[in-house]
Amino acid sequence: MSRNVISRREALKRVGGFFALTAMASYSGLAATSCQSSTETKTTVVTGKRLIFFFSATGNSLYVGKTIAGEEGQMLSIPQEIHKENPVYEAEEIGFVFPLYCFIPPTIVQNFIRKSTFKANYIFAVCTYGANYTLFPEYFDKLASECGFSVNYISAVKMVDTYLPYYNMEVEKATDKNTEETLATVVAEINRHENYRLPVTERDRFFYEGYYRHSGRDRVNPTFTRSEKVVYSTDACVGCGICTNVCPHGSWKVVNGKSVAEGDCENCLSCVQNCPSKAISIIRVDPEPDEPNRNARYRNPNVTLIEIIRANHQV
Ligand SMILES: Cc1cc2nc3c(=O)[nH]c(=O)nc-3n(C[C@H](O)[C@H](O)[C@H](O)COP(=O)(O)O)c2cc1C
Ligand code: SF4
Ligand code: SF4
Repeated sequence: MSRNVISRREALKRVGGFFALTAMASYSGLAATSCQSSTETKTTVVTGKRLIFFFSATGNSLYVGKTIAGEEGQMLSIPQEIHKENPVYEAEEIGFVFPLYCFIPPTIVQNFIRKSTFKANYIFAVCTYGANYTLFPEYFDKLASECGFSVNYISAVKMVDTYLPYYNMEVEKATDKNTEETLATVVAEINRHENYRLPVTERDRFFYEGYYRHSGRDRVNPTFTRSEKVVYSTDACVGCGICTNVCPHGSWKVVNGKSVAEGDCENCLSCVQNCPSKAISIIRVDPEPDEPNRNARYRNPNVTLIEIIRANHQV
Protein backbone atom coordinates (compact mmCIF):
# COMPACT_ATOMS: atom_id res chain seq x y z
CA MET A 1 0.00 0.00 0.00
CA SER A 2 1.36 3.44 -0.93
CA ARG A 3 2.11 5.81 1.94
CA ASN A 4 -0.55 8.15 0.63
CA VAL A 5 -3.32 5.57 0.78
CA ILE A 6 -4.99 5.78 4.19
CA SER A 7 -6.12 2.35 5.26
CA ARG A 8 -9.63 2.06 6.63
CA ARG A 9 -8.21 1.15 10.04
CA GLU A 10 -6.05 4.29 10.04
CA ALA A 11 -8.97 6.44 8.96
CA LEU A 12 -11.10 4.86 11.66
CA LYS A 13 -8.54 5.88 14.27
CA ARG A 14 -8.80 9.45 13.02
CA VAL A 15 -12.56 9.62 13.39
CA GLY A 16 -13.31 7.40 16.33
CA GLY A 17 -10.01 6.28 17.77
CA PHE A 18 -9.57 3.50 20.22
CA PHE A 19 -13.19 3.54 21.35
CA ALA A 20 -14.46 2.76 17.88
CA LEU A 21 -12.06 -0.12 17.37
CA THR A 22 -12.75 -1.81 20.70
CA ALA A 23 -16.47 -1.27 20.41
CA MET A 24 -16.42 -2.65 16.88
CA ALA A 25 -14.75 -5.80 18.12
CA SER A 26 -17.38 -6.28 20.80
CA TYR A 27 -20.23 -5.71 18.32
CA SER A 28 -19.13 -8.48 16.04
CA GLY A 29 -17.87 -10.88 18.68
CA LEU A 30 -20.18 -10.49 21.66
CA ALA A 31 -22.49 -13.40 21.05
CA ALA A 32 -20.03 -15.89 19.62
CA THR A 33 -19.89 -18.93 21.84
CA SER A 34 -17.95 -21.51 19.91
CA CYS A 35 -16.52 -22.57 16.59
CA GLN A 36 -17.17 -26.20 15.83
CA SER A 37 -15.73 -28.56 13.27
CA SER A 38 -17.58 -31.84 13.20
CA THR A 39 -16.75 -32.39 9.53
CA GLU A 40 -14.12 -30.81 7.33
CA THR A 41 -16.31 -27.68 7.11
CA LYS A 42 -15.94 -25.10 9.88
CA THR A 43 -19.16 -24.00 11.55
CA THR A 44 -19.68 -20.93 13.71
CA VAL A 45 -22.36 -21.33 16.38
CA VAL A 46 -23.76 -18.21 18.01
CA THR A 47 -26.30 -18.46 20.85
CA GLY A 48 -28.33 -15.95 22.82
CA LYS A 49 -31.76 -15.03 24.14
CA ARG A 50 -32.84 -12.43 21.56
CA LEU A 51 -30.47 -12.02 18.62
CA ILE A 52 -31.13 -9.10 16.30
CA PHE A 53 -29.42 -9.00 12.93
CA PHE A 54 -29.39 -5.56 11.41
CA PHE A 55 -28.15 -3.55 8.49
CA SER A 56 -28.30 0.23 8.51
CA ALA A 57 -26.81 2.92 6.29
CA THR A 58 -28.14 5.98 8.10
CA GLY A 59 -29.23 4.69 11.49
CA ASN A 60 -33.01 4.18 11.15
CA SER A 61 -32.78 0.40 11.28
CA LEU A 62 -30.04 0.54 13.89
CA TYR A 63 -32.28 2.64 16.12
CA VAL A 64 -35.27 0.34 15.60
CA GLY A 65 -33.07 -2.72 16.24
CA LYS A 66 -31.66 -1.22 19.45
CA THR A 67 -35.14 -0.37 20.68
CA ILE A 68 -36.45 -3.88 20.03
CA ALA A 69 -33.31 -5.39 21.58
CA GLY A 70 -33.93 -3.59 24.87
CA GLU A 71 -31.71 -4.60 27.78
CA GLU A 72 -31.34 -8.28 27.00
CA GLY A 73 -31.14 -8.46 23.24
CA GLN A 74 -27.90 -8.64 21.29
CA MET A 75 -27.35 -6.57 18.19
CA LEU A 76 -25.36 -8.28 15.44
CA SER A 77 -24.35 -6.30 12.40
CA ILE A 78 -24.98 -8.11 9.10
CA PRO A 79 -21.98 -6.51 7.33
CA GLN A 80 -19.81 -8.08 10.07
CA GLU A 81 -21.64 -11.39 10.50
CA ILE A 82 -21.70 -12.08 6.77
CA HIS A 83 -18.00 -12.95 6.87
CA LYS A 84 -18.51 -15.92 9.23
CA GLU A 85 -18.15 -19.39 7.82
CA ASN A 86 -21.30 -21.57 7.91
CA PRO A 87 -22.90 -19.63 10.76
CA VAL A 88 -25.57 -21.31 12.90
CA TYR A 89 -27.56 -18.97 15.15
CA GLU A 90 -29.59 -20.42 18.02
CA ALA A 91 -31.71 -18.30 20.32
CA GLU A 92 -35.12 -18.09 21.95
CA GLU A 93 -35.92 -15.21 19.59
CA ILE A 94 -34.27 -14.16 16.36
CA GLY A 95 -35.05 -10.92 14.55
CA PHE A 96 -34.00 -9.12 11.37
CA VAL A 97 -34.12 -5.34 11.05
CA PHE A 98 -33.16 -3.57 7.83
CA PRO A 99 -34.23 -0.86 5.36
CA LEU A 100 -36.24 -1.62 2.23
CA TYR A 101 -34.57 -0.99 -1.11
CA CYS A 102 -37.11 -1.10 -3.96
CA PHE A 103 -39.58 -2.75 -1.55
CA ILE A 104 -37.33 -5.68 -0.59
CA PRO A 105 -34.37 -6.37 1.73
CA PRO A 106 -30.97 -5.12 0.47
CA THR A 107 -28.76 -7.68 -1.26
CA ILE A 108 -26.37 -7.89 1.72
CA VAL A 109 -29.30 -8.85 3.99
CA GLN A 110 -30.65 -11.46 1.58
CA ASN A 111 -27.18 -12.95 1.06
CA PHE A 112 -26.61 -13.16 4.81
CA ILE A 113 -29.94 -14.90 5.36
CA ARG A 114 -29.29 -17.32 2.50
CA LYS A 115 -25.89 -18.39 3.84
CA SER A 116 -26.86 -18.79 7.52
CA THR A 117 -28.84 -21.24 9.65
CA PHE A 118 -31.33 -19.88 12.17
CA LYS A 119 -32.91 -21.85 15.02
CA ALA A 120 -35.39 -20.07 17.28
CA ASN A 121 -38.82 -20.46 18.82
CA TYR A 122 -39.90 -17.04 17.60
CA ILE A 123 -38.61 -15.29 14.47
CA PHE A 124 -39.49 -11.76 13.40
CA ALA A 125 -38.59 -9.33 10.62
CA VAL A 126 -39.07 -5.58 10.83
CA CYS A 127 -38.21 -3.31 7.94
CA THR A 128 -37.78 0.43 8.07
CA TYR A 129 -39.04 2.33 5.03
CA GLY A 130 -39.84 5.83 3.92
CA ALA A 131 -42.86 5.70 1.66
CA ASN A 132 -44.19 2.27 0.54
CA TYR A 133 -43.45 -1.32 1.54
CA THR A 134 -45.80 -2.90 -1.06
CA LEU A 135 -45.08 -6.69 -1.22
CA PHE A 136 -42.32 -6.81 1.41
CA PRO A 137 -44.18 -9.24 3.74
CA GLU A 138 -44.74 -11.73 0.91
CA TYR A 139 -41.18 -11.33 -0.34
CA PHE A 140 -39.74 -11.99 3.13
CA ASP A 141 -41.96 -15.03 3.72
CA LYS A 142 -40.76 -16.49 0.42
CA LEU A 143 -37.11 -15.77 1.22
CA ALA A 144 -37.43 -17.44 4.63
CA SER A 145 -39.17 -20.47 3.19
CA GLU A 146 -36.45 -20.86 0.52
CA CYS A 147 -33.96 -20.85 3.41
CA GLY A 148 -35.85 -23.48 5.40
CA PHE A 149 -37.39 -21.44 8.20
CA SER A 150 -40.70 -19.70 8.84
CA VAL A 151 -41.34 -16.27 10.30
CA ASN A 152 -43.83 -15.53 13.07
CA TYR A 153 -44.02 -11.77 12.76
CA ILE A 154 -43.45 -9.32 9.90
CA SER A 155 -43.93 -5.59 10.36
CA ALA A 156 -42.54 -2.21 9.34
CA VAL A 157 -41.72 1.22 10.76
CA LYS A 158 -42.12 4.27 8.53
CA MET A 159 -39.28 6.77 8.95
CA VAL A 160 -37.28 9.38 7.05
CA ASP A 161 -36.86 8.23 3.44
CA THR A 162 -33.13 8.32 2.77
CA TYR A 163 -33.28 7.92 -1.02
CA LEU A 164 -31.65 11.23 -1.91
CA PRO A 165 -32.52 11.30 -5.64
CA TYR A 166 -36.21 11.58 -4.73
CA TYR A 167 -36.33 13.09 -1.28
CA ASN A 168 -35.22 16.31 0.38
CA MET A 169 -33.87 15.32 3.81
CA GLU A 170 -35.04 18.61 5.38
CA VAL A 171 -38.61 17.94 4.26
CA GLU A 172 -38.39 14.31 5.35
CA LYS A 173 -37.09 15.25 8.81
CA ALA A 174 -40.00 17.65 9.25
CA THR A 175 -42.62 15.09 8.16
CA ASP A 176 -44.52 13.27 10.89
CA LYS A 177 -44.66 9.56 10.02
CA ASN A 178 -45.96 8.34 13.37
CA THR A 179 -42.61 6.61 13.85
CA GLU A 180 -42.42 6.44 17.64
CA GLU A 181 -46.00 5.20 18.04
CA THR A 182 -45.50 2.49 15.40
CA LEU A 183 -42.21 1.44 16.96
CA ALA A 184 -43.78 1.17 20.43
CA THR A 185 -46.52 -1.05 18.96
CA VAL A 186 -43.97 -3.25 17.18
CA VAL A 187 -41.90 -3.68 20.36
CA ALA A 188 -45.01 -4.59 22.42
CA GLU A 189 -46.21 -7.08 19.78
CA ILE A 190 -42.83 -8.78 19.57
CA ASN A 191 -42.56 -8.95 23.36
CA ARG A 192 -45.96 -10.69 23.41
CA HIS A 193 -44.75 -13.09 20.68
CA GLU A 194 -47.62 -12.16 18.43
CA ASN A 195 -48.09 -13.86 15.07
CA TYR A 196 -48.71 -11.13 12.53
CA ARG A 197 -48.25 -10.10 8.90
CA LEU A 198 -48.49 -6.57 7.55
CA PRO A 199 -51.41 -6.44 5.15
CA VAL A 200 -50.73 -6.33 1.40
CA THR A 201 -53.38 -4.66 -0.74
CA GLU A 202 -54.22 -4.91 -4.43
CA ARG A 203 -52.92 -1.37 -4.77
CA ASP A 204 -49.56 -2.52 -3.29
CA ARG A 205 -49.44 -5.32 -5.84
CA PHE A 206 -50.22 -2.97 -8.69
CA PHE A 207 -47.60 -0.44 -7.52
CA TYR A 208 -44.90 -3.09 -7.09
CA GLU A 209 -45.52 -4.64 -10.51
CA GLY A 210 -45.62 -1.25 -12.18
CA TYR A 211 -42.38 -0.16 -10.54
CA TYR A 212 -40.41 -3.25 -11.57
CA ARG A 213 -41.86 -3.35 -15.06
CA HIS A 214 -41.03 0.30 -15.74
CA SER A 215 -37.66 0.45 -14.02
CA GLY A 216 -36.42 -2.82 -15.50
CA ARG A 217 -34.53 -3.48 -12.25
CA ASP A 218 -33.57 -6.98 -11.21
CA ARG A 219 -36.30 -8.35 -8.93
CA VAL A 220 -33.91 -9.94 -6.40
CA ASN A 221 -30.97 -7.52 -6.43
CA PRO A 222 -32.52 -4.27 -7.64
CA THR A 223 -29.90 -1.88 -6.26
CA PHE A 224 -26.73 -3.98 -6.04
CA THR A 225 -24.08 -2.61 -8.40
CA ARG A 226 -20.57 -1.06 -8.49
CA SER A 227 -19.82 2.05 -6.45
CA GLU A 228 -18.11 3.67 -9.47
CA LYS A 229 -21.56 3.75 -11.12
CA VAL A 230 -23.29 5.33 -8.13
CA VAL A 231 -21.08 7.89 -6.39
CA TYR A 232 -18.00 10.08 -6.79
CA SER A 233 -16.19 12.53 -4.52
CA THR A 234 -15.90 16.20 -5.37
CA ASP A 235 -13.22 18.84 -4.72
CA ALA A 236 -14.81 19.44 -1.31
CA CYS A 237 -13.27 16.17 -0.07
CA VAL A 238 -10.82 16.74 2.80
CA GLY A 239 -9.59 13.15 2.97
CA CYS A 240 -11.01 12.45 6.45
CA GLY A 241 -11.71 8.80 5.58
CA ILE A 242 -15.20 8.58 7.08
CA CYS A 243 -16.62 7.24 3.81
CA THR A 244 -14.09 4.39 3.94
CA ASN A 245 -15.53 3.33 7.30
CA VAL A 246 -19.28 3.70 6.83
CA CYS A 247 -19.43 1.70 3.60
CA PRO A 248 -20.69 -1.87 4.22
CA HIS A 249 -18.57 -3.14 1.32
CA GLY A 250 -15.41 -1.15 2.10
CA SER A 251 -15.61 0.35 -1.37
CA TRP A 252 -13.88 3.67 -0.65
CA LYS A 253 -10.20 4.45 -0.18
CA VAL A 254 -8.31 7.70 0.29
CA VAL A 255 -5.50 8.25 -2.21
CA ASN A 256 -3.30 11.34 -2.03
CA GLY A 257 -5.74 13.01 0.33
CA LYS A 258 -8.83 12.38 -1.86
CA SER A 259 -11.41 9.64 -1.65
CA VAL A 260 -12.00 7.22 -4.51
CA ALA A 261 -14.92 4.77 -4.84
CA GLU A 262 -14.30 1.33 -6.28
CA GLY A 263 -16.04 -1.94 -5.45
CA ASP A 264 -19.38 -3.54 -4.66
CA CYS A 265 -22.23 -1.21 -3.82
CA GLU A 266 -25.69 -1.60 -2.23
CA ASN A 267 -26.64 1.94 -3.30
CA CYS A 268 -27.25 2.50 0.42
CA LEU A 269 -25.92 6.10 0.26
CA SER A 270 -24.27 5.76 3.67
CA CYS A 271 -21.14 7.39 2.23
CA VAL A 272 -23.11 10.32 0.83
CA GLN A 273 -25.21 10.87 3.94
CA ASN A 274 -22.36 10.57 6.44
CA CYS A 275 -19.67 12.62 4.65
CA PRO A 276 -19.16 15.66 6.90
CA SER A 277 -18.06 17.84 3.96
CA LYS A 278 -21.00 16.88 1.71
CA ALA A 279 -18.31 15.97 -0.79
CA ILE A 280 -19.93 12.89 -2.30
CA SER A 281 -22.26 13.25 -5.25
CA ILE A 282 -24.67 10.74 -6.74
CA ILE A 283 -24.36 9.88 -10.42
CA ARG A 284 -27.76 10.55 -11.95
CA VAL A 285 -29.31 7.59 -13.76
CA ASP A 286 -32.18 8.04 -16.23
CA PRO A 287 -35.10 8.36 -15.51
CA GLU A 288 -34.29 9.38 -11.94
CA PRO A 289 -34.29 13.11 -11.15
CA ASP A 290 -31.44 15.20 -9.75
CA GLU A 291 -31.29 15.44 -5.98
CA PRO A 292 -33.87 17.95 -4.75
CA ASN A 293 -31.48 19.28 -2.08
CA ARG A 294 -27.75 18.53 -2.28
CA ASN A 295 -27.12 20.31 1.01
CA ALA A 296 -29.49 18.25 3.09
CA ARG A 297 -28.06 15.13 4.68
CA TYR A 298 -29.43 12.73 7.28
CA ARG A 299 -28.40 10.40 10.06
CA ASN A 300 -30.96 9.15 12.58
CA PRO A 301 -30.72 11.48 15.62
CA ASN A 302 -30.64 8.52 18.05
CA VAL A 303 -27.58 6.98 16.39
CA THR A 304 -23.99 8.23 16.38
CA LEU A 305 -21.49 8.15 13.55
CA ILE A 306 -19.41 5.76 15.65
CA GLU A 307 -22.31 3.30 15.80
CA ILE A 308 -22.64 3.37 12.00
CA ILE A 309 -18.89 2.84 11.64
CA ARG A 310 -18.90 0.00 14.15
CA ALA A 311 -21.70 -1.70 12.22
CA ASN A 312 -20.42 -1.22 8.68
CA HIS A 313 -16.65 -0.90 8.82
CA GLN A 314 -14.77 -3.54 6.79
CA VAL A 315 -11.23 -4.50 7.74
C1 LIG B 1 -31.47 2.64 -2.52
C2 LIG B 1 -32.66 2.91 -1.64
C3 LIG B 1 -33.89 2.37 -1.98
C4 LIG B 1 -35.01 2.60 -1.18
N1 LIG B 1 -36.21 2.03 -1.53
C5 LIG B 1 -37.29 2.25 -0.73
C6 LIG B 1 -38.54 1.66 -1.06
O1 LIG B 1 -38.69 0.87 -2.00
N2 LIG B 1 -39.62 1.97 -0.29
C7 LIG B 1 -39.53 2.82 0.77
O2 LIG B 1 -40.54 3.10 1.39
N3 LIG B 1 -38.34 3.35 1.15
C8 LIG B 1 -37.21 3.08 0.42
N4 LIG B 1 -36.00 3.61 0.79
C9 LIG B 1 -35.90 4.35 2.06
C10 LIG B 1 -35.28 3.50 3.20
O3 LIG B 1 -35.81 2.19 3.18
C11 LIG B 1 -35.55 4.13 4.57
O4 LIG B 1 -35.24 5.46 4.58
C12 LIG B 1 -34.84 3.37 5.67
O5 LIG B 1 -35.44 3.71 6.90
C13 LIG B 1 -33.35 3.66 5.76
O6 LIG B 1 -32.82 2.88 6.79
P1 LIG B 1 -31.37 3.03 7.40
O7 LIG B 1 -31.27 4.44 7.99
O8 LIG B 1 -31.33 2.00 8.47
O9 LIG B 1 -30.38 2.82 6.34
C14 LIG B 1 -34.87 3.41 0.00
C15 LIG B 1 -33.62 3.94 0.33
C16 LIG B 1 -32.52 3.71 -0.47
C17 LIG B 1 -31.18 4.29 -0.09
S1 SF4 C 1 -15.53 12.06 0.63
FE1 SF4 C 1 -16.17 12.99 2.54
S2 SF4 C 1 -16.06 11.34 4.05
FE2 SF4 C 1 -14.86 10.68 2.27
S3 SF4 C 1 -12.77 11.32 2.74
FE3 SF4 C 1 -13.71 12.98 1.54
S4 SF4 C 1 -14.52 14.40 3.06
FE4 SF4 C 1 -14.11 12.47 4.15
S1 SF4 D 1 -20.17 3.04 -1.98
FE1 SF4 D 1 -21.59 4.32 -0.77
S2 SF4 D 1 -23.59 3.74 -1.58
FE2 SF4 D 1 -22.19 2.13 -2.22
S3 SF4 D 1 -22.31 0.54 -0.62
FE3 SF4 D 1 -20.62 1.92 -0.10
S4 SF4 D 1 -21.54 3.41 1.29
FE4 SF4 D 1 -23.23 2.40 0.22
